[in-house]
Amino acid sequence: AKEKPLAGLSAVVTAGPTYEPIDPVRFIGNHSSGLMGITIANALHAAGAQTTLVLGPTHLTANVGVETIKVTTAQQMFDAVAGVFPSTQIAVMAAAVADYRPATVAHQKIKKQVDELEFSLVKNPDILLHCGMNKSSNQWVVGFALETNDEAAHAMDKLRRKNADMIVMNSMQDKGAGFGSANNKVTIFEPEAGPLSLPLMTKQDLAKEIVSLIAKRIHEKA
Ligand code: PMT
Repeated sequence: AKEKPLAGLSAVVTAGPTYEPIDPVRFIGNHSSGLMGITIANALHAAGAQTTLVLGPTHLTANVGVETIKVTTAQQMFDAVAGVFPSTQIAVMAAAVADYRPATVAHQKIKKQVDELEFSLVKNPDILLHCGMNKSSNQWVVGFALETNDEAAHAMDKLRRKNADMIVMNSMQDKGAGFGSANNKVTIFEPEAGPLSLPLMTKQDLAKEIVSLIAKRIHEKA
């Protein structure tokens, strides 16, 4: 049916920030609220897909019917996605995943002693890259790109390097879009279609646009 274009398919979505612990009371995190990914999970579910949301720390929740797996760190988010990815056809990575984590986590609260404190950070696994590299021809992998400069070039580079089918690029230059906001303004990059620039709109409306584009591409290929 037209109202449920993704009936019979399943999807996994990441949303929110990750928190990388430094000691029992502190972490490295970012400003993601989770709203963008949550609205995409809701839209995929509304379109008929059986949807799993892997959600970093936030107070926001998805609609009833979306199965939510709550995680804290990038490694936990990776493990949850890697577990469900083989049995899904659609993967949308909207989380703001920490690229690095502290090399060691102090067992006790770090005391204020020295004037300069140095940390060593190690790379986290890249969830989007894992999905892109392991996808089969019936799987669709969609990534986001949050850029501050040379946006189109960086987004195109992510599309290629991460072997994604679609990159949704939002820019920190656009006021009232991106992190925390109720609205977003994006340009969508695909390997075989010109960039599609969408106007500023609510994250709910944007989520519907993204999901209809995914459904369109899946049906074109079928
Ligand atoms: O949560 P909101 O407040 O609603 O804000 C939405 C948002 C701005 C967080 C969202 O629209 C967004 O842009 N998410 C991606 C943010 C980001 O970290 O972008 P990036 O350019 O650093 O990462 C590129 C892509 O790789 C993303 O799909 C990201 O989820 C993925 N990634 C990155 C690192 C990593 N270790 N694993 C990943 O999967």
